[in-house]
Amino acid sequence: MSRNIKEIIKSMTIEEKASLCSGLNMWQTKPVERLGIPSISMTDGPHGLRKQGNLGDMSSKTVPSTCFPSGAGLASSWDRQLIREVGKAIGEECQAEDVQIILGPAVNIKRSPLCGRNFEYFSEDPYLSSEMGTFHVYGVQREGVGTSVKHFAANNQETLRNSINAVVDERTLHEIYLRSFEGPVTAGDAWTVMCAYNLVNGEFCSENEYLLTEVLKKKWGHNGLVMTDWGAINERVKGLRAGLELEMPYVGPEHDQMIIDAVKSGELDEHVLDTAVERLLTVIFKAYDHKKPGFAYDKEEHHGLARRTAAECMVLLKNESSILPLKPEQSVAVIGAFAKHPRYQGGGSSHIAPTRLDAAYDAIVEAADGEVAYAAGYSLKGDTVNQDLIAEAVKLASSKEVAVIFAGLPDSFESEGIDRTHLNMPSSQIELIRQVAAAQPNTVVVLSNGSPVAMPWLSDVKAVLEGYLAGQATGTAAADILYGKVNPSGKLAETFPAALEQTPAYLNFPGGKSEVFYGEGLFVGYRYYEAKKEEPLFPFGYGLSYTTFHYEKISVDRERMRDTDTDTAVVTVTVRNTGQVAGKEVVQLYVKPIDSSVVRPVKELKGFEKIHLEPGEAKTVSFKLDKRSFAYYNTEIQDWFAETGAYEILVGPSSAETPLAASIQLISTGVPFKKVTRNTKFFELLAIPETAPMAAEIMELSMERIKQMGAMFAESMDSGLSELFDAVVQWKKYDGLRSLGGMIGGMSEDQLAALIDDLNEKLGLQ
Ligand code: BGC
Repeated sequence: MSRNIKEIIKSMTIEEKASLCSGLNMWQTKPVERLGIPSISMTDGPHGLRKQGNLGDMSSKTVPSTCFPSGAGLASSWDRQLIREVGKAIGEECQAEDVQIILGPAVNIKRSPLCGRNFEYFSEDPYLSSEMGTFHVYGVQREGVGTSVKHFAANNQETLRNSINAVVDERTLHEIYLRSFEGPVTAGDAWTVMCAYNLVNGEFCSENEYLLTEVLKKKWGHNGLVMTDWGAINERVKGLRAGLELEMPYVGPEHDQMIIDAVKSGELDEHVLDTAVERLLTVIFKAYDHKKPGFAYDKEEHHGLARRTAAECMVLLKNESSILPLKPEQSVAVIGAFAKHPRYQGGGSSHIAPTRLDAAYDAIVEAADGEVAYAAGYSLKGDTVNQDLIAEAVKLASSKEVAVIFAGLPDSFESEGIDRTHLNMPSSQIELIRQVAAAQPNTVVVLSNGSPVAMPWLSDVKAVLEGYLAGQATGTAAADILYGKVNPSGKLAETFPAALEQTPAYLNFPGGKSEVFYGEGLFVGYRYYEAKKEEPLFPFGYGLSYTTFHYEKISVDRERMRDTDTDTAVVTVTVRNTGQVAGKEVVQLYVKPIDSSVVRPVKELKGFEKIHLEPGEAKTVSFKLDKRSFAYYNTEIQDWFAETGAYEILVGPSSAETPLAASIQLISTGVPFKKVTRNTKFFELLAIPETAPMAAEIMELSMERIKQMGAMFAESMDSGLSELFDAVVQWKKYDGLRSLGGMIGGMSEDQLAALIDDLNEKLGLQ
């Protein structure tokens, strides 16, 4: 229905406008019945619907919905279309439950494996995370349901999440932490964004004008609304002015009144309130108009999707002597309480009531022809080693051909609200694995956990399947992989460290009591391990299959490319399935700058594609690279800048293995500064065609002068100083223009100013 929102706003009282800026209750917005403004409902998210039966009553029970794998698992599928399908299913469930906005996707970067909420987040890599988030948004919103991309921004820990100030340098903020939000907001066109609890660089996210207005609204053109995380408001009027439209949930009339008072006293321009209300009404009406009353979804079908998705997400980490897939006739000891009582989702706001729950034990009984027997091995309560349970499990394991142990992290080990302090699994489980593996050489471990764990038992067992928190079909999906009904194709979306001390944020996580300093800067995840030449337990992008793939060839359709917004290069790669069974491969493309003038990670993920290959089949995959594939965030121009230079394009099955390589020359047409000043550097001018000849000429003259002076000094001192000057001169290009003046340069201030004017004129930067 078309409405004139501006006209509606004109007919609203200040009180009515202010009332829209906070919720009605825990989950809804306020209606204004007089003007036909409806109330809309929103609920968690992200990997399924957590809706309380009565949205106005906090104690009312959660209605059943399909629990899909949580973010950590979903991202390991590296499958955009699958994420979109999951989003679509979630959107359908929202329609069926009359929910207009689902609170997700959660796209915060995994800065440390200790963050208690990593199970909800996608990746340590902003490109992968952004792609996953974008396709989630596509899927949900196509169903006429809005998303809320959260938690904006730099909410990378649970410790002191309400009060911690994340101190992040501007370049890191853009290249790592904001980059993850960019796709869901710009390409995905997410209807809403949820701001985080914490502060970023001294300002609460809920009143951070830089984040909410400069970046989100102006740079990215977000035209939806920003809501607070639940209770994340600090100063209501300041928040509104900074670009925060909706405070959630409703806690009483005071904050609405503050807005009213501020407008009435002239402290707040009414126009600011009107602009916020316009955004609010745009989303409210859009959501309302897309409602599908009476919509129903097929629970079985969605469960089937949950099962297919879970199997796509699981990552095979080890498979010695091809012990997997199991043969149906093998007798199996199924060990571990998780086999009967799955850990399949995380704790906190995303915790949903599943429509059903598949236990691995039942699924294995179903899949196997041989004998299957069970032993609990550990108690779900507490973390004490139970020798009786272990002894029973060991006895069972040695009486069968294979032992499959279901282990991982219990609910109490990771959750929203708290961070982990170590990477260990419960000692009861570690001891169980050790003793079972000592008695049964064919031991397989299936893990259920939301984030990496240490595996001191890794060399004792033959196979490890990382199941993450795989949702309500976790058990059937695990059995599908264990018995080869599905060939595993998940790849790690995060690095598994060898030890906590090795992790990038180790020195600065979770920070002090007021502040956390992102001291590792850009070097998050594999960017750190690669730069430090640290060998992790399992690298980013890693994952095994029951078949083998050969990366045959690579070609790039051009040798040179410009950094314009339209110029692109196409990289084509051929991959063949060289094994005996059909399988899927995630082909990963990384870009490596060869000689950059700024500090950059060794290489960065800039493309990936998941392909299905029959045995013997080869496919070509094409990747389109654009300016962004090469760019870094230049803080002087506050924009992405792709430097002139050579770049290597590396393609392979994981970050640690890139058998195919090609190179490309990038020619920058951009200017990495706002204006030429006395401190603009020669190398910057040399890289710009308009200024290169002039810069080369003056630099040459200056170098000559330095050499001459060096020779003079050397002569006077009778020393080898002139060689030193010859070496020093090599660094000249990194000097500022200012060095043309003074004692060594010899140029007068007037001459220097004239030169700067000339250069600015050449670049049209007057
Ligand atoms: C969480 C959000 C969630 C909200 C509503 C907060 O505590 O951080 O992710 O959407 O609660 O449940």
